Amino acid sequence: MAKTYQLLLVLMILVPVSSEEDTKNFYIVYLGDGPSSKGAAVRKHLSLLSSVKASEHDAKESMVYSYTKSFNAFAAKLSKDEAQMLKELDEVASVFPNRYHKLHTTKSWDFIGFPQTVERNLRLERDIIVGLLDTGITPQSDSFKDDGFGPPPHKWKGTCHHFRNFTGCNRKLVGAKYFKLDGNPDPADILSPIDVDGHGTHTSSTLAGNLVPNANLYGLANGTARGAVPSARIATYKVCWASSGCADMDILAAMDDATSDGVDVISISIGGVTGDFVTDSISVGAFHALKKGIITVASCGNDGPSLGSVSNYSPWLLTVAATGTDRQFRSAVKLGNGKSYSGIGINTFGSKEKLYPIVSGADVAINAESKELARFCYDNTLDPAKVKGRLVYCLLGEFGAESVVKGTGGVGIVLESEQFLDTALIYMAPATMVNMTVGEAVDKYIHSTRSPSAVIYKSHEVKVSAPFVASFSSRGPNAGSQHVLKPDIAAPGVDILAAYTLMNSLTGLKGDTQHSKFTLMSGTSMATPHVAGVAAYVKSFHPTWTPAAIKSAIMTTAKPMSRRVDKDAEFAYGAGQLNPTGAINPGLIYDMDEMTYIQFLCHEGYSGPSIAHLIGKKSVNCSLLLPGFGYDALNYPSMQLNVINSKRQTVGVFKRRVTNVGPPSVYNATIKAPKGVEITVIPNSLVFTRSLQKRCFKVVVKAKPAASTAFTMLSASLVWKSTHHTVRSPIVIYGLQD
Ligand SMILES: *[C@@H]1O[C@H](CO)[C@@H](O)[C@H](O)[C@H]1NC(C)=O
Ligand SMILES: *[C@@H]1O[C@H](CO)[C@@H](O)[C@H](O)[C@H]1NC(C)=O
Ligand SMILES: *[C@@H]1O[C@H](CO)[C@@H](O)[C@H](O)[C@H]1NC(C)=O
Ligand SMILES: *[C@@H]1O[C@H](CO)[C@@H](O)[C@H](O)[C@H]1NC(C)=O
Ligand SMILES: *[C@@H]1O[C@H](CO)[C@@H](O)[C@H](O)[C@H]1NC(C)=O
Repeated sequence: MAKTYQLLLVLMILVPVSSEEDTKNFYIVYLGDGPSSKGAAVRKHLSLLSSVKASEHDAKESMVYSYTKSFNAFAAKLSKDEAQMLKELDEVASVFPNRYHKLHTTKSWDFIGFPQTVERNLRLERDIIVGLLDTGITPQSDSFKDDGFGPPPHKWKGTCHHFRNFTGCNRKLVGAKYFKLDGNPDPADILSPIDVDGHGTHTSSTLAGNLVPNANLYGLANGTARGAVPSARIATYKVCWASSGCADMDILAAMDDATSDGVDVISISIGGVTGDFVTDSISVGAFHALKKGIITVASCGNDGPSLGSVSNYSPWLLTVAATGTDRQFRSAVKLGNGKSYSGIGINTFGSKEKLYPIVSGADVAINAESKELARFCYDNTLDPAKVKGRLVYCLLGEFGAESVVKGTGGVGIVLESEQFLDTALIYMAPATMVNMTVGEAVDKYIHSTRSPSAVIYKSHEVKVSAPFVASFSSRGPNAGSQHVLKPDIAAPGVDILAAYTLMNSLTGLKGDTQHSKFTLMSGTSMATPHVAGVAAYVKSFHPTWTPAAIKSAIMTTAKPMSRRVDKDAEFAYGAGQLNPTGAINPGLIYDMDEMTYIQFLCHEGYSGPSIAHLIGKKSVNCSLLLPGFGYDALNYPSMQLNVINSKRQTVGVFKRRVTNVGPPSVYNATIKAPKGVEITVIPNSLVFTRSLQKRCFKVVVKAKPAASTAFTMLSASLVWKSTHHTVRSPIVIYGLQD
């Protein structure tokens, strides 16, 4: 498996769904009240567990975690019956099975208008602590040196210890912990916060890495690597493992710790299993973090471009899509007939003008039955005698085909693909990925001459038009709620250069001997720390802002993207491309507190008891909260109307309240709406005479019945404009026309 694809796709393999035959599985049990003293909570957890187990000894053996800091819960190994018995206890609010998530991988900062010289509030930036839940970190990387750093701020309560293969923390990397209690050690895993994969090192350095000049990958992408907030501190919480992916119960433990350790921002490039708002561990952990004023930024997933693939869709998460920048890595293939074609990919192998014989995988199968599979150069399908010393032309089947060809004695490959032609993969042998037109030309050439030959050149950078949403980036609509637009925001996530580990090869593939302190990776995983870094940057100017306020500032200042470039429009890019310098000065914010989200959950039809654990109560009486809601029961910075019945007009009334965080101003509303949609704003002018003044307004969206019977998705927007600020909210109208 190629590393980039490990991020994009192959990590799915790492997700063992808890096996059905297992009589005992891990469960997370939420109690019906908030955290009390640690000792009392732990005793309570044990006594509850003992009540369904044969003995207290049994209970102790099966206990995995007691969560006692930001919420009151425990994780334990239980049978289905035991889980059911616990569920029926008065003290227990809810019981969920533990599941496993997967990981979603410098010039990007300059590309989005965030130069090294940007205005900073260093006094506060130095006190910002960012927490990452990931594969760990490489403490010896230049990106995490602490030259010039003072001691961590007093609010920091986290820890770092001596761990295996871990050189230790410093004033930059202030905390490191690992979470793995499911007891399935894999030889590839080291029980320590050390990053043996590279993913966590990469995301951490994008978020808050130091400035490191002359960073490059075998000379490619040479420049200064840096994070969004180079003066901020990093706390690493390793929750993802080669053996098991990322377990719910470990994620919850890490978020409980991060929340009480004193981080300001949590960045999570993990997804995979999609649960609902109240059972998904990332969603639940983020809610508890939110109550302490901590914003959680999460990746939307790499399951695009299919619609409805977005994950991490809770309204209290800031959900990030990935875009490409104007730099692409290409490597050309030249055929013996002199024709040259451009393909995409990162090929560090310097090729002289030496031509190698080239064959088609389909023609060099090891036997007749393998011929079909050999077209894709699958493992054990190629005849070593016919591949030795040659280049092979293959169709894209599984990632890592170059490793198969190389292992069979071949030189390299020309890969033909219909997909992923916007993202450069790193190869462990000379390789390039071409589109079908070029692939067919190569195939034709191979079959039109007695001794076909070719050469693949080392990659070079080219300029392309950007931004565009990466094909792999997951798309809306939101499977969790028809009322909330997801993803929220788009940020660079294609071919991002950042720090890496020397403990892994560049691709992780068998036979790969390439190592580098910096590497290029792609994925919504890489986009997420860009946004988390900007959230930290905003917080360094506005330390008292709530998570919702920071999110609003980031969304309403985003650079609008184009439906003409990305046909899935807001379902691909949300509010648009991240705009860091705009985000510190949004003019108005759409603020919310935790109770707004509870009201939203009631409005969505969640029962009172099923959401109680979010606020540490036995139950919530939704009927006390329901009256007087608008269409979505939120004060969200974007709006989404679902058209259910196309025969009649659909109307949605969105109620919103904005807070003035700029100077006294008058804001006027500007509406953009497509044909068939009528939008009015009442009132359409807002006057603010002082700072922090709040004003309410209504947005009435009327969608006419559509002629078409297909899936429709229309883009509109509301912009509040004053002389100094532009506050933009996308409005999406979508539905299946019947
Ligand atoms: C981890 O440390 C142990 C003991 O010092 C050493 O033997 C081992 O090679 C290290 N592992 C890696 C992957 O570097
Ligand atoms: C990277 O750029 C720097 C400064 O422009 C230069 O000195 C250095 O040699 C370059 N490194 C590589 C590997 O190209
Ligand atoms: C295929 O790739 C070649 C070389 O990059 C390019 O010129 C051509 O336009 C592409 N064709 C299609 C259909 O994308
Ligand atoms: C919830 O509140 C309503 C309205 O006050 C009340 O009638 C109802 O009994 C309450 N339900 C519960 C379960 O307390
Ligand atoms: C807002 O609208 C009012 C009335 O139409 C107009 O006088 C004012 O100049 C507008 N302000 C801005 C900032 O566009």
